Amino acid sequence: MYLKMARIKHLSALLLAAGLSAAKYIVPGGRWRDTDGNLVNAHAGCVTADRQTGKFWLFGEYKVEDQVEGGGVSVYSSDDLATWEHHGLALAPVEGHPYIAPSAIIQRPKVVYSKVSNEYHMWWHADNSTYGLLLQGFARSPNISGPYTFVSATAPMGNWSQDFGMFTDYKDGRSYALYSNGDSREGRDVYLAAYDADTTALESIVHRWDKYDLEAPAIVQTDKSYYALMSHKTGYRPNNVVAFRADSLSGPWSQPFMVAPLNTRTFSSQSGFVLRIEGTKKTTNLYLGDQWDSNSLWESRYIWLPIDIDERKKSLEVVWSDVYDLNVKTGEWAPVKGTTYLAKDAKTKGDAFKQEANFASGGVIVTGVYGNDSTVTFEGVQGSGKPQWVSFYYQNTDDMGFGDQPGGTPDRIGGSWQLRRIASVVVNGKTREVESLYQRDTHKGIILSTPLLLTLDNGRKNTITVGGLWNGFDHKGGDLDRIVVYPAEK
Ligand SMILES: *[C@@H]1O[C@H](CO)[C@@H](O)[C@H](O)[C@H]1NC(C)=O
Ligand SMILES: *[C@@H]1O[C@H](CO)[C@@H](O)[C@H](O)[C@H]1NC(C)=O
Ligand SMILES: *[C@@H]1O[C@H](CO)[C@@H](O)[C@H](O)[C@H]1NC(C)=O
Ligand SMILES: *[C@@H]1O[C@H](CO)[C@@H](O)[C@H](O)[C@H]1NC(C)=O
Repeated sequence: MYLKMARIKHLSALLLAAGLSAAKYIVPGGRWRDTDGNLVNAHAGCVTADRQTGKFWLFGEYKVEDQVEGGGVSVYSSDDLATWEHHGLALAPVEGHPYIAPSAIIQRPKVVYSKVSNEYHMWWHADNSTYGLLLQGFARSPNISGPYTFVSATAPMGNWSQDFGMFTDYKDGRSYALYSNGDSREGRDVYLAAYDADTTALESIVHRWDKYDLEAPAIVQTDKSYYALMSHKTGYRPNNVVAFRADSLSGPWSQPFMVAPLNTRTFSSQSGFVLRIEGTKKTTNLYLGDQWDSNSLWESRYIWLPIDIDERKKSLEVVWSDVYDLNVKTGEWAPVKGTTYLAKDAKTKGDAFKQEANFASGGVIVTGVYGNDSTVTFEGVQGSGKPQWVSFYYQNTDDMGFGDQPGGTPDRIGGSWQLRRIASVVVNGKTREVESLYQRDTHKGIILSTPLLLTLDNGRKNTITVGGLWNGFDHKGGDLDRIVVYPAEK
């Protein structure tokens, strides 16, 4: 007991020293730090609740810096879905193994509890580095945190399996696999297949979405409906995720429809999993999306957002909040209110200037942000003296052209593609403490936001200056619309 207390005190001292708060708010797209201060590194995975304790366990691809494959599956635990403790690898790569060697693909891991064997079962997309196998991997562990023991890698019902998802029906506890069957001409379908009661093998195909050529599937269940979410196939580049609705898993399924405001590319994210939180007051479904960073996969961010479902309209929407407060016990969530400072009222320097933009706040956006000399400064910003999230609303119209690939060129054919610009953010002129703000490509006239955790002085005399940092192409910063400063966590 004493030791535990001491450790916790020590930890929070460390966190304070590192300028980090133990985050209690959920902040989509922020740099999420675990309780050791490292970036949370568990991509395209799932969250599974422990049967006994209700504790949440996050599983995902562990990305090694500068590597695509080889990391295995990492695992984190949390009581509030915002504070994450790392428990290492749940499934570690094994040198020389035919399916989980460091050179193998271990992607989109999912973990479910099996009542029959009273253990946890992990499934994933198992492959070799050239995606020539297209199998489903299976491992098991008596402990949710692992370590998981490899069992097999198989072809589901004899077919190929690429992007992998899992869904458990809350009404009868039955689990299902969701998988796209690859990019070949004969593939391009998404399958929904039922497991046996023990979740050790697939038994039957429940539905096939024929030739829609979608991937990254997940299912949301309500009292009345099932909604299947999937993304288009644009590699690591985000696109407009769609959903299909049905009364039953075997269909008939509806036409697909978009789940987020058009051209936000689902807030720069890809679908992958939906977590159902059955609270005492409300059931909330959380969209757990990935914001892939193809320049450095290990730094990819997480876009977790509540889902709004209107059964009367048979519609589903992923709802954006910069910062929100989720009570996992009651199931209730609310956006946190922040204070807005418009770029229209900020001070520009050098070649940065205010330009008419009918889609921007106040009809004006600041453009020409570049390097150290062409900057925009927000003045009179109220701070608390503690770390607080600040969201930067921007537009970055670097055309997302990508060779001649369809779907990769919404704005321009054959253009050069830039994943993001990087803005510099300086608080109170302290140019030695420059923060880097990644500003993902947007469509023209589409304003998105990215958060940074900043420490402002207590009071209303802070300045926040935004310039441009080198992103591999130039020192351009995005066009700025506004910033929103959120209160520090209590
Ligand atoms: C992956 O498997 C396919 C099918 O067996 C094979 O053709 C390909 O050469 C393999 N790739 C590697 C890197 O071993
Ligand atoms: C499961 O976890 C418990 C408690 O941490 C531990 O005692 C046990 O050895 C673990 N079992 C396995 C198979 O890892
Ligand atoms: C997989 O299923 C597709 C149809 O969805 C079929 O055309 C293809 O031949 C199957 N592949 C294998 C290896 O069974
Ligand atoms: C900005 O300032 C830093 C530090 O003085 C310098 O290294 C960098 O080259 C400058 N960038 C530009 C684009 O001038």
